[in-house]
Amino acid sequence: MKRKVLVVHGPNLNMLGRREPDVYGEKTLSEINQVMTEYAHQLDISLTAFQSNHEGEIVEAIQAAEDDYQGIIINLAAYTHTSVAIRDAILTLDLPVIEVHLSNIYKRESFRHHSMVSDVVTGQIVGLGAKGYILALSALAEMIPDAEPS
Ligand code: DQA
Repeated sequence: MKRKVLVVHGPNLNMLGRREPDVYGEKTLSEINQVMTEYAHQLDISLTAFQSNHEGEIVEAIQAAEDDYQGIIINLAAYTHTSVAIRDAILTLDLPVIEVHLSNIYKRESFRHHSMVSDVVTGQIVGLGAKGYILALSALAEMIPDAEPS
């Protein structure tokens, strides 16, 4: 079975490309997902990308992940700073989880300095733009066991 990784993109990330490009870059979400999918292919990983503007949908995607995936990459966007519910969902998982932020949240407004999930994820990558997702995938590929021959 091929290794599977889930990428969860939070609210407003569907607006990437148009949304504050000076902060978040010029790439659209589908371009980011495309580059990740190609890199995942090289690593022999099957990648599923999910985006939602709704907290409950993100909770449900994370709850369901354990059965189907060996690792998760999350950019919870604004929910990073507010969501106890998503933090609690992550705590139900026994999977490596990498938190990514396009911008360096620690160089921005003080309300962005705190992540509700940073102490319950495996690692965090901030401020490297879309490259952060690639680095997260590279790190996950080393953490999750190789697929058994089928
Ligand atoms: C973000 C940072 C958050 O503070 C913000 O609300 C986002 C995007 C980032 O990727 O830099 O929507 O998660």
